Amino acid sequence: MVVLGSITCTAPVNIATIKYWGKRDENLILPLNSSLSGTLHQDDLKTTTSIVANDEFTEDALWLNGVKEDISAVRYQNVLKAIRDRATKLQDKPHHVHIVSVNNFPTAAGLASSASGYCCLVYTLAQLYGVEGDVSSIARLGSGSACRSMFGGFVKWEMGTKEDGSDSIAVQVQPESHWPEMNIIVLVVNDKKKETSSTAGMQQSAQTSPMMKERCATTVPQRMKDIEEAIKSRDFEVFGDITMKDSNDFHEVCATTTPPIYYLNDTSRYIINLVEKYNTVSGNIKCAYTFDAGPNACIYLPEQNVTEFLALVLKHFPTGDQTNYYRGPNKYLQQSQSYQE
Ligand code: DP6
Repeated sequence: MVVLGSITCTAPVNIATIKYWGKRDENLILPLNSSLSGTLHQDDLKTTTSIVANDEFTEDALWLNGVKEDISAVRYQNVLKAIRDRATKLQDKPHHVHIVSVNNFPTAAGLASSASGYCCLVYTLAQLYGVEGDVSSIARLGSGSACRSMFGGFVKWEMGTKEDGSDSIAVQVQPESHWPEMNIIVLVVNDKKKETSSTAGMQQSAQTSPMMKERCATTVPQRMKDIEEAIKSRDFEVFGDITMKDSNDFHEVCATTTPPIYYLNDTSRYIINLVEKYNTVSGNIKCAYTFDAGPNACIYLPEQNVTEFLALVLKHFPTGDQTNYYRGPNKYLQQSQSYQE
């Protein structure tokens, strides 16, 4: 038995401030709109993937959090093929790969597990096979939002215009060092698997929500420009305002889908009110919520507001056994106090 190569990498989750929702090509995973996110630090919410290439393995295989996945699924196959097509190593050595991937947070609970998962898979495969150049477009074939986890800091996914998707790639807007005070707190409201997957939900919305047309044609393009500018000038007031508006619009799109999709629950709405009141009483935007396809809240806020905001959260949710994660400039703090529904 010859181990031809083995490698382990990690990739963090990203939290979208301008949401990707809807595809113009389901197979190539080409979006209907550009999107933008902040990438968490490597040390916190992340996927770790190990891959071994061996000439005696009889098949490619993948285990996710200890459970064997069906690697014949189209997204895995598209990713493997795209990597092997661009390989500079291992091409002349018959082999199969065994892949082991673990998340250090709940999978499929709206915590962007597919983003870090496919990003990590593609990045690790790319190292193993010696793939050079941009691989965000390969991560995109696994899960759209995964392409944005390829970079740290603030990252946009350019929707692109080409039919083959070659210009639908992730681009770093600003590195993490540009705005080191920025923190993200994830308030875990519910870590159960969501009822409607992002993939199915966005397909239904694209087909039926009357809000989609304007969102893709005018609202998002304008917001992309404005938020990039706000990030550049570190203007939290504008950044927070756009982030909350886009989250609200995204959930409105879901609610106007037929049949309607509701990802938020009462606790999520309670957190929205808490943030809104906190900002109103403060007279400026001190923190900004955003919710993906699930009830968990992600709160963007500058370092100087973290202690005050967490004190507020603990006052309103004094008991519970969930975990809050938050992102510091050079470190992550984790604390295991929080709240439950
Ligand atoms: C609400 O990237 O999970 O988190 O491309 O079908 O795999 P697929 O969808 P996915 O959708 C993420 C949607 C979102 C918004 C975002 O991250 O931009």
